[in-house]
Order: sequence, then structure tokens, then C-alpha cells
Amino acid sequence: MPEKTGQDLSGDRIDAHTRELIKELADGAERLTFPLPRSFPFGPPAEYAELRSKCPVAPAVLHGKNSWLIAKYDDVREALQSTSLSADMSHPDYPLNPGMRASLAASGPGAGSFLKMDPPEHDVMRRMVTRDFTVKRVEALRPKIQELVDGLIDDMLAGPQPADLFQALATPMPNTVICWLLGVPQSDHDFFQERSTYFFRRDVPDDVRLTASKELNEYVYNLIDQRIDDPDTDPEADIISRLVVEQLRDGKISRREVQGIAFLMLVAGHETTGNMAALGTLALLQHPEQYKALGEDPSLAPGAVEELMRFLTINNEPNWRVAKEDTVIGGQLIKAGEGVVPLTFSANRDEGHYTAPNTFDIRRPDRDHLGFGYGIHQCLGQPLARVELQVFYATLARRVPTLKLAVPLEEVPFKTNAEIYGVHSLPVTW
Ligand code: HEM
Repeated sequence: MPEKTGQDLSGDRIDAHTRELIKELADGAERLTFPLPRSFPFGPPAEYAELRSKCPVAPAVLHGKNSWLIAKYDDVREALQSTSLSADMSHPDYPLNPGMRASLAASGPGAGSFLKMDPPEHDVMRRMVTRDFTVKRVEALRPKIQELVDGLIDDMLAGPQPADLFQALATPMPNTVICWLLGVPQSDHDFFQERSTYFFRRDVPDDVRLTASKELNEYVYNLIDQRIDDPDTDPEADIISRLVVEQLRDGKISRREVQGIAFLMLVAGHETTGNMAALGTLALLQHPEQYKALGEDPSLAPGAVEELMRFLTINNEPNWRVAKEDTVIGGQLIKAGEGVVPLTFSANRDEGHYTAPNTFDIRRPDRDHLGFGYGIHQCLGQPLARVELQVFYATLARRVPTLKLAVPLEEVPFKTNAEIYGVHSLPVTW
């Protein structure tokens, strides 16, 4: 294959060999249409391995915009660190789907939601909540999380079989934890779960997603009202109280920004962790000797979480970016205005970076997966997600060593159409 020099060589910049490969992978089309379906049940799209070996920076169409898929580990890290790429969804060239565009139009440019902001605004907002997710702070929550998980397992074991592990354990755990952090009363936890689930699904109509998003936003708005009237002034208080006392009152932040930050915590925090808890359990059950080993030796839990994050990479479409200026990634020129998708799932299975990347091994020494992203937007909540998942898998494996799937694997309803991969339900017996 001719070397890519990073210059616009031919006008269309795609050499003949690459064009042929793309046509083959895209079933005759000139460009790949993204996203591509995952391989059942835990693998990345089959095309990724071929992209890595033959066309690691591949042209694709994202919602009608010319874009590039980045397939190799080193290039993905380079892209996620690049200051030439923007995560700002309100950028006119950002590859947005119609639903997201409608949602953006309805709720405004997402003040405070720093996941989709660039520096310097991103860094200012992120710093306001960094303190809530330090390892020290989340480790202090571990006993409470342990108690929560034990209580949920007690309830499941006392109930009928088969049970739906997704509803009984995986969903309420992160939902409860994020509600603690935000100061959401217990009585409203179910409301949150339901709305957030709709918000993330791709197989529901856009208006349903939009309504869910509006209702969540309204709820948070009212919660802020309550905190303005009656804030908790303890420096270790819930995030909304702290933002009100430390930032809003001094005029460092607007009310809309408080709302945006709180909303980001909600949607980023529990859908991801809940899906990871259920899908990770399923992956462990498919490797029973490793599930057993984890139950017998809790010191394997941190490694198990890292390996599950790498192996499953549940964010289907994380990290879309748009080039603010011409830049070169993996030797390929990317022009200003073109979209970029760093394929973290491909990176996490890159044979150039990992030994036997398609083998699931909770004793694997590597801890450098990109399942939490990389660069300035790397997951803020990762210390919390780690503690929750370590407690979750280790406690389940220890307390329910006979846990097994109640239906054939083929009958498990996978979320093939959601932004975050997982299962709609996980029927289990023990
Ligand atoms: C297993 C669970 C989780 C996964 C797989 C996950 C994944 C990710 C990924 C891939 C990103 C980077 C997105 C990008 O670069 O565009 C991210 C960012 C983020 N995550 Fe998570 N996350 C998880 C749990 C959490 C939790 C528990 C919280 C908070 C309660 C959280 C809050 C955030 C925030 C605030 C950002 C934006 C960071 C920034 O833009 O600076 N996440 N997450």
C-alpha cells in the first residue's frame, strides 16, 4: 500500500488499494457507514481487525459528514490527545445525528456539560467537580457501596428464580450511588433510572428520547432550586450543594451550568456502570473458571475490572471529534471540518499493543486500556466506577458461586442499538 504522507496527494486522498478495501468492507459503497455492528456477543465489529492491518485511518461517513475512523491503539491515543480536534457538538461540522441535533436545539448548547466542551471552558468546569472523584473520596464510599451491593444480593436471593440480574442488581447499584452524590432523594431514584434508559436507547423514537431528556433536565433544575433555598454547607456535601455554595453564589458559574454539570454526572454515571456490571457478569459466567477464581480470591477484582473494561469496551460510539484545523493522525491528513472517530474498541483489541488481545484473562498484567477514554476527556468518574465494579463482581462471585445464565446465550437480549452496549435483561439462576 502506498505510504500516506499526510498531504493531499490525489484530490480525493484515498489511494486505490484503500478504496478497494473500503468497498469490500462497505459492501460496494465508497465509504464505510458507521457504526458497524459488533460481533456476537463480546467482540468488536469484524471489520476492525482488517482496518488495523490494512487501513488504520479509514474514510467513513458519519451522519452525512466525511470522517475518519482511527483503528490502532497508538493512533487512537494520539487522536484523543490532539489539540487540533474538538469535542464540541455545537461546532457546525460536528457529525451529529438528527436526534442529537434536535435534542441540542431543544436544550441549548449544553452549558456545563464539559464532556462536549474544549479548553479552556472544559478545564474550568471539570476542575469544579474533580474533588468529588478522587481515589481517596471514592474509597471512603467503598463500605457503603459494599453494604448496598450486599443488600441488593440479599433481596435477589430471597426472591424467585430466575431473576433478572440487570434489574435486580446492575441497575440499582450505580443509580443509587450517583443519586447519593447528587443528593437526589431515594423516592426519585426510579424516575431517574427510567428516563436515563430511554435517553440512551437508539431503538426508541426521537421524541421519546427528547421527552426523557427534558424531564431529567427539569428534575435537576428543581433540585437546584431546592439547594439554592436550603443548601448543605458541609464541604463534603452533595455535588449540587457544593456547586451552589462554592460557585453559583459567587457568580463563577451560571445556574444553567450547574444544571449541565449535574446532568452530565447523571447520564455519564449510571447507564455506563450498570451496563458494565451486567455485561461483565455475563462475560465472567462465560469463563466459569475465572468467575470461580474471583470468588475465591478478591485480590483478583481490580485486574478483573480492567480486563472487562478492555475486553468489552461498552461505549459504542465514544469520543467523536471534529478537526478544527488540518492535522495528521497516523500519517493521514485530516482536513479541517472532517469528523474523527477514535475507535477505542479497536484499540483495546490491537494485536500490535496487546498479546492475544481476543483472549479474556483477568490475570492479564496490562492496565492501559482505553475503555475510559484518554486525554483531557478521560472519564472523570473512573475511580468511582472501578470501586463499584470491583465490589460488584467480587461480592457476586463470592456469595453466589453457583450463579448461571437461565437462558441460552443466544436468547439474551443484547443492546445492539444503544450508545452504550449491554443487555436489556440478564435472566439468572443459582
Ligand atoms: C464503567 C463505567 C464507565 C464507563 C465505561 C465510562 C466511560 C467514559 C468514557 C469513554 C469517557 C470519555 C468520553 C470522551 O472522550 O468523549 C467518559 C467521560 C466521562 N465520564 Fe465516564 N464512564 C463510566 C463511569 C462514569 C461514572 C461513574 C461517572 C460519574 C459519576 C462518569 C463521568 C464521566 C464524566 C463527567 C466524563 C467527561 C469527562 C470530561 O469530558 O472531562 N463516568 N466516561
